[in-house]
Amino acid sequence: MPICFATHNQHKVAEISKLLGGEVEVISLDDLGVTRAIPETGATLEENALIKANFVYQNYHIPCFADDTGLEVAALHGAPGVYSARFAGEPADNEKNIDKLLGLLAGETNRQARFRTVVALVQKGGQHLFEGTVAGEITTARRGSRGFGYDPVFLPKNFDRTFAEMSMEEKNAISHRAQAVGKLIAFLKHNK
Ligand code: IMP
Repeated sequence: MPICFATHNQHKVAEISKLLGGEVEVISLDDLGVTRAIPETGATLEENALIKANFVYQNYHIPCFADDTGLEVAALHGAPGVYSARFAGEPADNEKNIDKLLGLLAGETNRQARFRTVVALVQKGGQHLFEGTVAGEITTARRGSRGFGYDPVFLPKNFDRTFAEMSMEEKNAISHRAQAVGKLIAFLKHNK
């Protein structure tokens, strides 16, 4: 039976299909005919991932997983966290989000932050959560042009380049999302 990845991002679907090595067929929300975004009304990454995975499981009766990611900044008491995408308001705008973050941290010496991804899997046997985190700090200015989102201002711990200065392979070797997805894949392969 195929498994759904509750996303409209075909890049993410292709990436995980490749990691699963064709052992499990992965379909997207588009394949199911879900054209609109599923409202992410949860107060935590866990809630949002479960909302999306449960939506598909309950409406389409197939196993489904979903991911949600947030940037948690220590000096901002964990913000923007679950609100990372719309930190600077609607519509979501990566550049405005970074400007707001750098502004709030101006003059701040504690620049510790982490990315956290939660993947929720909902299937006949119940619900499972998988987490991936990567610790680092927020730079004082943008560096690099690769990646997306907050990558230009995130310097992972023990590295001297931001995520936006790394190749996709380098970032995927350590990233929050790669870790969470890796745990999901190990689970799926083990429980086929
Ligand atoms: P989503 O849960 O993947 O939709 O991500 C939520 C927010 O976090 C969006 O603003 C993304 O741009 C940002 N984000 C997610 N993953 C990353 C990443 O790997 N690097 C930088 N920003 C990210």
